[in-house]
Amino acid sequence: MSRSLSPRATAAAPRWPGRLRSLAFGGDYNPEQWPEDVWVEDVRLMREAGVSMVSVGIFSWALLEPTEGEYDFAWLDRVLELLHDAGILVDLATPTAAPPAWFSRAYPESLPVTAEGVTLGIGARESFCPSSVDYRRAAVRIASALADRYSDHPALALWHVHNEYGAHVGPCYCTASTQAFRGWLRERYGTLDALNDAWGTSFWGQSYGDWEEITAPRRAPMPVNPAQQLDFRRFSSAEYLECYRLERDVLRELSPDVPVTTNFMATACPHIDYWHWADEVDVVTNDHYLIAEDPENHVHLAMTADLCRGLARGRSWLLLEHSTGAVNWQPRNLAKAPGEMRRNSLAHVARGSDGAMFFQWRASRSGAEKFHSAMLPHAGTDSRIWREVVELGADVGALAELQGTRVRADVAIVWDWEAWWGLELEFLPTVDLDYQERIRAYYETLWHGKVAVDFVSRDADLSGYRLVVAPSLYIVPGPVTRNLTEYVEGGGRLVVSFFSGLVDESDTIPPGPHPGGLRDLLGITIEEFHPLAAGDRVGVDGGLRADVWSERVVLRGATALRRFVDGPDAGEPAVTRHDVGAGSAWYVATRLDRHGLADVLEPALAGVEPLDVPAEVEGVRREGYLFLINHGDAEAVVAASGHDLLEGSEHDGEVAIPAGGVRVLRT
Ligand code: GLA
Repeated sequence: MSRSLSPRATAAAPRWPGRLRSLAFGGDYNPEQWPEDVWVEDVRLMREAGVSMVSVGIFSWALLEPTEGEYDFAWLDRVLELLHDAGILVDLATPTAAPPAWFSRAYPESLPVTAEGVTLGIGARESFCPSSVDYRRAAVRIASALADRYSDHPALALWHVHNEYGAHVGPCYCTASTQAFRGWLRERYGTLDALNDAWGTSFWGQSYGDWEEITAPRRAPMPVNPAQQLDFRRFSSAEYLECYRLERDVLRELSPDVPVTTNFMATACPHIDYWHWADEVDVVTNDHYLIAEDPENHVHLAMTADLCRGLARGRSWLLLEHSTGAVNWQPRNLAKAPGEMRRNSLAHVARGSDGAMFFQWRASRSGAEKFHSAMLPHAGTDSRIWREVVELGADVGALAELQGTRVRADVAIVWDWEAWWGLELEFLPTVDLDYQERIRAYYETLWHGKVAVDFVSRDADLSGYRLVVAPSLYIVPGPVTRNLTEYVEGGGRLVVSFFSGLVDESDTIPPGPHPGGLRDLLGITIEEFHPLAAGDRVGVDGGLRADVWSERVVLRGATALRRFVDGPDAGEPAVTRHDVGAGSAWYVATRLDRHGLADVLEPALAGVEPLDVPAEVEGVRREGYLFLINHGDAEAVVAASGHDLLEGSEHDGEVAIPAGGVRVLRT
């Protein structure tokens, strides 16, 4: 049986675009939406703004291959020449996220099908099934044609395969996908007996006697077998990855010196297990958009950036898209306030991005994204956004020496796409379980505590961390139990939240009481879950408040640090600690609010040095540099010394950061 654990941190060295001598600054450039005289102005303005690289051709398949096998590269030749003449590098995309209309017409079976059996139409983008052999063949063909033509182009710095795999379709349930799923299952399980056993198909009489009986988990009268659903999600992520690999391999063959990437949506795509993708790209790149109405969206930004650094195994990565102002796809697309774009961009750089790029260069006049902000807005150059873009270009230019420097943390949070999938299954004890909510609650607590955080996979080498937090780590297969146990025995501190360690990778509960995957390590068993009614809250010793979850924890070697003061488990353990080897494993049996989490984490953080900055200041150390980002509306003062790369000033002992401002010190 093949394992579905993430690859351990054994990545080959990343290959940063060798031609890029500064941090990357620029955005998606879609010149095909404009007449050629505009291109000349574009390039002039790009120089004015300090643009060093643009992403070109992302959705231009229909223009590059107007009919099957016939190519028109003339316009792209001229675009690349113009950019090259201006000294602007190109992140050249394969356009395979937007199959042309002729393709969908010729190969209607390539259209994606939803769980309800609805075939999705064309006229937008992303209308393809990742298992379609026709799609794969056509995608590889256009990628090869591009590589044939441009692999030696002096402007080419980076290949950008596709765009946000899995963004808006996710799993496809068509006939070809079903066939491919059966093949994937055969490989994983070998025999039908092994599959029936792993899926527990004796439940509801689901046993399979022939591989051809197995289907994609389409909408059914009741929840489809959860192990089957998990496998289908693993399979779908792997199918998209295979599409990426096929394109990447032809690009590598034809231009071995040019690094290849595909843009991730690190915290925003539930369909892709990026731990399996991270080592397949030469550079981890990411797209991040603020949720405009979230008052703590800058904390979410920090979390996403830290996750990208985790995917890059601690090395630098690249923010390939964010926005200068409002997006167009949220319910209320609030504009960014003056200075907010700068804080956002530099916060990504602080957390390891070797650049700040945007969607998109020039605002579109037509199409679904015409109300999306851009570097060059509809209002033109006499606008606040343009002025801020030009200033930001200078800032990013001044930070060139940071390229490749690292961020280090003593604390890690385990991020696990499989746990996320598990918490999206039906028929769980409560509908209030939310994977990202718990991750975010712990992250926000640490962010406000000024503690640097890495994100790691469940099977990563944890030995370098003083504290590892595993929120809602629902699925814990045997090797993960061993990994966490080794970490604690070796002196680590592990904090695990409720609804963790309950099942193995087949969504099967190990024999005996919960949490089977972690009970020995945590020194507890759980006798019974007591999820709370909507809106109900429980108290925990020390004046802490919690909601959603309570449970009857039985001590089996652990000691109770705090107990429930009311609710269904009044007087019973709510937070426990189990000393194991040289370390300790802690358990939090309820959904504490941030104040409660801060209290509980405080002793677990012993020996971890928080950064000494005021509450509204985000401070990040990037190897030899200190970023200070003031999110408040008053000047803040921090005790620090060094040369400010943005202002060119020297600071000796004290740095004042203006309201909403940013300082980057070489320390
Ligand atoms: C994504 C895509 C872009 C664009 C933006 C809009 O990140 O990659 O093409 O659609 O969203 O925010």
